[in-house]
Amino acid sequence: MDSPIPDYLHEVLSACGADTSGAVADYIPELAQVDPDRLGVALTTVDGAVYEAGDCESRFTIQSISKPFVYALALQQRGLEAVLDQVDVEPSGEAFNELSLEKGSGRPLNPMINAGAIVVHTMLGDPGDPQGRCDQVLAGLSAFAGRPLDVDEAAYGSETATAFRNYAIANMLRSRDSITEDPEDVVAAYTRQCSVRVSTRDLALMAATLANGGVHPVSEEQVVEEWVARQVMSVMATCGMYDSAGDWISTVGFPAKSGVSGGIIGALPGQLGIAAFSPRLDPHGSSVRGVEVCRHLSADMGLHMM
Ligand code: DON
Repeated sequence: MDSPIPDYLHEVLSACGADTSGAVADYIPELAQVDPDRLGVALTTVDGAVYEAGDCESRFTIQSISKPFVYALALQQRGLEAVLDQVDVEPSGEAFNELSLEKGSGRPLNPMINAGAIVVHTMLGDPGDPQGRCDQVLAGLSAFAGRPLDVDEAAYGSETATAFRNYAIANMLRSRDSITEDPEDVVAAYTRQCSVRVSTRDLALMAATLANGGVHPVSEEQVVEEWVARQVMSVMATCGMYDSAGDWISTVGFPAKSGVSGGIIGALPGQLGIAAFSPRLDPHGSSVRGVEVCRHLSADMGLHMM
């Protein structure tokens, strides 16, 4: 590649690489085993050019970055009203694993927190068919990535054995009929969604598909309609970074989503998909160096949308 962008991306990684603050997630035992020093960044334009630096090929579990994409699949399948009826779109101002239900309706406040994502997950496919749902999630995430993805069975087993907080959330949701299936089955299937393996490059292509109005920039498949991509990016902008969403949108300025394995994505409508990966997390559950990489890209490339 003779483009200067890869050189620039290496510079960004050098600038961010020295920060070893934060800690890898250990509430999922398998995540505590990863090499904390890994660091990668990838950018994909909406016309399909991919630029990358650092560790962009190795695989990690998608975790909460699955949430905007499964929200997209549910919107596409059920329509906006049906999904809004179950899950609101208001920032919670709380951690991702708080229950955060809206007073009155009892809906989870948004689809980016665990409570909302668990409900959204159950909206795919036929009720009472967790296996069918898992198949649809895997096929849908693969379409966003533009290649067949798979599930990290070790991470899946490790998280289902210790997902006490999500079992509690799912039981609360079941008590309010927000979900209608057995809470343990629902958490198991939602956890499979979180255990899909991706690379930083995959995530950049997935984000670019949202940025490109739902059309994968390389395969050219229309994965979801344009209104769906707009709805998803809007909710990422307001809720994707949980209890740091306000700081994020005012300082970095583009829709984003983080995950506890250390991935982070940004989607700039009509322009770019961005992904970074580094496992040590800040207190909000977002990658310390991933956030730093995005801050650099936003400042240097003028990506703040406001
Ligand atoms: O449900 C959980 O707790 C994990 N599978 C995903 C959480 C997550 O990635 C939160 N984001 N930073």
